[in-house]
Amino acid sequence: MLTVAVLISGSGSNLRALLEAASHPDFPARIVVVGADRDAEGLAHAEAFGIPSFTVPFRSFDNREAWGEELARQLDVWTPDLIVLSGLMRLLPAALVARYAPQIINTHPAYLPEFPGAHGVRDALAAGVTQTGASVIVVDDGVDSGPILAQERVPVQEDDTEHALHERIKPVERRLLIDVVRRVATGELVLTH
Ligand code: GAR
Repeated sequence: MLTVAVLISGSGSNLRALLEAASHPDFPARIVVVGADRDAEGLAHAEAFGIPSFTVPFRSFDNREAWGEELARQLDVWTPDLIVLSGLMRLLPAALVARYAPQIINTHPAYLPEFPGAHGVRDALAAGVTQTGASVIVVDDGVDSGPILAQERVPVQEDDTEHALHERIKPVERRLLIDVVRRVATGELVLTH
């Protein structure tokens, strides 16, 4: 059984979908812990599913490296086979990536390499594209630059707002993320740098 740690910053709707999938007896992975870089709303989903959680507040540390060291200490307690960034809005320090790579994956609301970074949905709208998408990637040292594991196009509508478009992208992300975790767990998908 693949053990998974999930890291979030926000509402955790994708986390919730993963928790639901992983609570099914046939699903080959289990979420063992949920972590956040702030007092994230989504931590409530972990509690609802009886999954332990921890917070390592980014703002309590002098720099990214010190934050990453504490995050690694917390993750190490659970020895996860896989770490899922599900809306973690922080770049992981290189030392943390090196420690766990390639077993860290990230879900992103754009069709990478298009529109990487913190505002994938906003940037796609600003660019005036007619389609964007969702991607699940392996995390490397760059910004959303790792190997792509799964992705799918989502059309942009004429009157789209950032919120409306993001809400249409998220269900696609959930489906891709759950499928990637399942395929990693069965060995069908082997993560590489
Ligand atoms: C998701 O769309 C995720 O891809 C995005 O944050 C959202 C979290 O939603 N992450 C990034 O943009 C990372 N660059 P959720 O908290 O409702 O699951």
